Amino acid sequence: MTEIRTPRLLLRRWVPDDDLPALAEIQADPAVMRHIGDGEPRSLDGSAEDVERWEEEWDDEGFGVFAVELLGSGELAGAVGLYVVEEPAPVAGHIGIQWRLGRQYWGQGYASEAAQACLEFALQDRGLDRVVAVAAPEDASSAKVLHKLGMARTGEADGLLLHAIDLTEYEA
Ligand SMILES: CC(C)(COP(=O)(O)OP(=O)(O)OC[C@H]1O[C@@H](n2cnc3c(N)ncnc32)[C@H](O)[C@@H]1OP(=O)(O)O)[C@@H](O)C(=O)NCCC(=O)NCCS
Repeated sequence: MTEIRTPRLLLRRWVPDDDLPALAEIQADPAVMRHIGDGEPRSLDGSAEDVERWEEEWDDEGFGVFAVELLGSGELAGAVGLYVVEEPAPVAGHIGIQWRLGRQYWGQGYASEAAQACLEFALQDRGLDRVVAVAAPEDASSAKVLHKLGMARTGEADGLLLHAIDLTEYEA
């Protein structure tokens, strides 16, 4: 079972029965979902579909979106990890990184800590040499995370900002 420990976090696969209530609560918050997909809060069924899709991706691809747990308390803080991008078209089929945390877990460096670990996993464990990210221009918090990770702007499509990092350089 794939797990990563950072100083403060455990990144692990999803346990649907245990994680769904906490994920659903996080994703029912309009502030969390504002810049994701259609920008609408997720229903319980929508969150269940997310967990199912993320777990399928783990099984099919050998990477996926992790459940992010606080090491101290075991609380589910959110979802951070890798996925096969579907849109916008210029990056469709590329491997992307995404993040979303419950509102009470913002502003503590958890997203950056988890994302950094995911890039290391992408390179060292999966042998990936490039990871992209798609962000809304008004998503200032993600812009800061992207900057901290060293992800560079590569373009724009469908009103979204495209970023990428060459992991072979990241390693150096
Ligand atoms: C995007 C998102 C994950 C970023 O989370 P975040 O907590 O702001 O990001 P970080 O983990 O990098 O934390 C950074 C902040 O923690 C602060 N911080 C506090 N303690 C810290 C510590 N020990 N280490 C590092 N930073 C710390 C930093 O000063 C920084 O504050 P700043 O943003 O005011 O400069 C979060 O805003 C979110 O979940 N948003 C909703 C979902 C979303 O839109 N996702 C993106 C879709 S594309």
